[in-house]
Amino acid sequence: MPVEAGDPTEASVQTGHASEYSRKNPFPATVVQNSVMTGPQSEKETRHIELSLMGSGIQYLPGDSAGIQPDNPPQAVDAVLQGLGLTGDENVTDFYGGSLTSRAALTTWLMIGKLATSTVRGWAKFTGNAELNTLVLPDNKKGFEDYLWGREFIDLLMEYPAKLEDPQLIFKLLPRLAPRLYSISSSQCLHPEAVDLSVRVVTYESLGRTRFGVCSGGLAMRVAVGSKLPIFIHSNQLFRLPTDLDAPVIMVGPGTGVAPFRAYLEHKQAGQGRWPMWLFFGEQRESQDFLYKDEMNAWLKSGVLQRLDTAFSRDQKEKIYVQQRIREQSAELWQWLDRGAYFYVCGDSQRMAPDVEAALLDAIATHSGKGAEFATQYLAEMKKQKRYLRDVY
Ligand SMILES: Cc1cc2nc3c(=O)[nH]c(=O)nc-3n(C[C@H](O)[C@H](O)[C@H](O)COP(=O)(O)OP(=O)(O)OC[C@H]3O[C@@H](n4cnc5c(N)ncnc54)[C@H](O)[C@@H]3O)c2cc1C
Ligand SMILES: NC(=O)c1ccc[n+]([C@@H]2O[C@H](COP(=O)([O-])OP(=O)(O)OC[C@H]3O[C@@H](n4cnc5c(N)ncnc54)[C@H](OP(=O)(O)O)[C@@H]3O)[C@@H](O)[C@H]2O)c1
Repeated sequence: MPVEAGDPTEASVQTGHASEYSRKNPFPATVVQNSVMTGPQSEKETRHIELSLMGSGIQYLPGDSAGIQPDNPPQAVDAVLQGLGLTGDENVTDFYGGSLTSRAALTTWLMIGKLATSTVRGWAKFTGNAELNTLVLPDNKKGFEDYLWGREFIDLLMEYPAKLEDPQLIFKLLPRLAPRLYSISSSQCLHPEAVDLSVRVVTYESLGRTRFGVCSGGLAMRVAVGSKLPIFIHSNQLFRLPTDLDAPVIMVGPGTGVAPFRAYLEHKQAGQGRWPMWLFFGEQRESQDFLYKDEMNAWLKSGVLQRLDTAFSRDQKEKIYVQQRIREQSAELWQWLDRGAYFYVCGDSQRMAPDVEAALLDAIATHSGKGAEFATQYLAEMKKQKRYLRDVY
């Protein structure tokens, strides 16, 4: 239910309250929506997920992420139980001393979807297998890394079989199944009892099989509307909208990197600030992958969003990425920065974020007229002033 657009206040940008729910005590949120946003011809699957916070008292702010505690697929758990020679009914004790069955432990507590170095080392010791003990030798770093890549615990069990006499050993062999973070893509000012997420489903081929990310794959295949997901809020004070409610905001968010910026835009729509907003969005194909296209166009029309520059990498022969749009618009971008704009980046940490930073530095160097050294100092000053903010993963 939308709230009335009221007078923006600094407090509305910065506050957020603790609730009784936390990483250790996640809230069982009901799934209200779980739909595919990408088109049928897309090379990826990105989902819009809406969770109900009704009755939780949970509060969050744009820039925060939601943590989801995933569980392992039942078939994968069955395969591991069989590989270990366990029935699933054995009693074991979790990391905190709680009692549960081996099946429950392998479903919710332990990482079986990815092979950890410690697991292989532990299995080498447990089985005493000579080949495995050679694999884990310190001078075989590369061979060991290659072995780990794309393998799950079940692959190790199939290649080096052994039965586990003591079921409790699973807690020694396997690391804990960690929660996954997702940038929140809604503002609580528009959706007081809900939280939206934008999730790309991780999928890849390895050892002749199609693999799915534990959490994103689970969200795609096992989480129906009406079911519950254990979630908590991961607050991020370093990715907030400016407390100066008139400061311009430049947002660079290709792919699911757009998620927190949708939350920013909703926050502005709810009357929480007057920030002039400029979004750079990129994806593979406009017809398949333009996430939140209708909303973006509506925000442009209503004046919530002042500028939108898109880069669809695979709609032409040569790849076009957001940093190319930044370079094309660098004169105007410099004017925004000169007026005190905040520059936000969200999404891929490996390739996109450094490339965007290079384009930003070039824009500053060229249009300030003061060159590369000045640009480096200017960016350092922006960082100090918390006007250059990144949430990359
Ligand atoms: C602050 C933050 C915010 C985030 N926000 C979002 C968001 O808004 N939306 C979003 O979709 N994600 C987001 N993520 C990423 C998200 O947390 C998860 O990392 C992601 O969903 C993958 O988790 P998973 O359990 O599905 O995959 P996992 O089971 O963890 O599998 C991923 C792993 O699979 C392996 N793998 C992947 N590709 C290949 C390949 N081609 N070959 C071999 N192995 C491969 C790699 O080891 C990789 O680490 C965010 C992360 C952080 C830290
Ligand atoms: N940790 C994980 O397991 C995990 C899980 C999910 C997502 N992620 C990461 O989250 C990020 C978002 O994923 P996503 O699929 O939504 O989007 P993405 O992979 O970042 O792709 C979005 C757009 O960015 C383009 N791109 C590729 N390289 C780029 C570069 N150097 N600079 C700028 N743009 C570039 C892509 O083009 P092309 O594809 O045409 O090259 C695509 O058009 C990625 O880092 C992804 O790896 C990580």
